[in-house]
Amino acid sequence: MIKLKPFLVALVLAVPSAFAQSPVSGRLARSPSAVTGFVKTNGQKFELNGADYTLVGLNSYWVGLMNLSPAAMSSAFADMAAAGATTSRTWGFDEVTRDPGNAYYQIWNGATPTINTGANGLQNFDNVVAAAKANGIRLIVTLTNNWSDYGGSDVYVTQILGAGQPHDFFYSNAKVVAAYKNYVQTFVKRYVNEPTILAWELMNEPRCAGSTSSASASCTPATITSWASEMSAFIKSIDSNHLVSVGDEGFFSIPGNSNFLYSGGMGVDNVGLTAIKTIDFGTFHMYPFSWGQTADPVGFGDTWITNHTVLVQRALNKPVILEEFGVTQSQFDQVTAYSKWYSDVIADGLAGDLIWQAGSTSVTNANDGDMVFPGTSVYTLVTQQAAALKKRG
Ligand SMILES: *[C@@H]1O[C@H](CO)[C@@H](O)[C@H](O)[C@H]1NC(C)=O
Ligand SMILES: *[C@@H]1O[C@H](CO)[C@@H](O)[C@H](O)[C@H]1NC(C)=O
Repeated sequence: MIKLKPFLVALVLAVPSAFAQSPVSGRLARSPSAVTGFVKTNGQKFELNGADYTLVGLNSYWVGLMNLSPAAMSSAFADMAAAGATTSRTWGFDEVTRDPGNAYYQIWNGATPTINTGANGLQNFDNVVAAAKANGIRLIVTLTNNWSDYGGSDVYVTQILGAGQPHDFFYSNAKVVAAYKNYVQTFVKRYVNEPTILAWELMNEPRCAGSTSSASASCTPATITSWASEMSAFIKSIDSNHLVSVGDEGFFSIPGNSNFLYSGGMGVDNVGLTAIKTIDFGTFHMYPFSWGQTADPVGFGDTWITNHTVLVQRALNKPVILEEFGVTQSQFDQVTAYSKWYSDVIADGLAGDLIWQAGSTSVTNANDGDMVFPGTSVYTLVTQQAAALKKRG
């Protein structure tokens, strides 16, 4: 999803600082399913230790950002595991320019970044990983953001090149690229041997333009594809255990097409990105209302899922996942929309799906209207989908 509304950000910042630094407690060690072996791909499927791995679950960007105690992190993952989820996607970044008094991962002093390896930095992310592991959940970890929430790529550009520079210099300026590589290297190396990490993801929703910064005239889909090539190869060079994905929204770049979702106008070519040798699987997102597809939002999703199954997964013979999707209940009846989309994923043969986003009783301040909570009818659907995908294989 794109962003937290400002008032929600304010709430998040108001969370009292409570770094429960207690070691991961015995309570977390209930381990319903062992996390051993690295998830791999085989053709259009994911595999684990020679068997099919069903990639299904919920996004939870907030787990490592909200000063949750290890017990609260574990309870969030326990809820997902109880729904049959195998996988969650979360943010492995938070760029700040001054100490916010809560969790953050990199702090900038002028053009100089310092990675936070402390208790409210990477040690906090260690707790995220331990809590996921204790509950048999694997993680897709996203390493920066196109949006300005939690810093993201614009912080790199502004700190290194100054205010007002184009958003896409993140992909092309040598100093900025080196700074991002430095962050990625430190983060990735820390978990090279950790099977709880399912994949490293380059960026949440890369585009030529940002939320508060614009695109330069020279940014095209080739800009982001070339950056993703270099970055994914870099990650593979330091970590051959883990899968790598892009995290893009799945826009196509088809010559002559005037619809922004298919024209390459956002600077994204999902086929070109997924075809990169060092990218293991494809991603796409689906927000009919943010994208102006309001006349027939459910039908739009149906087509969007088919397009990615046919034009990407089958054409490239790599797994593709519906990595984020959502409508708020006030936009459209969630059960109606999600039932249709879930059955499309099953019927088309798409590799997997992650709904935006998990709700947890321990985190009520990250709700952007799309959170799904245990005990609701939408959560029942999520649970049924996990079972149905596992059964389909
Ligand atoms: C990134 O850039 C686009 C274009 O400005 C902007 O709409 C949005 O703020 C950012 N987020 C996403 C999802 O691309
Ligand atoms: C997307 O899928 C729809 C429905 O199957 C199809 O009519 C359309 O041609 C597809 N788009 C592309 C670009 O292939």
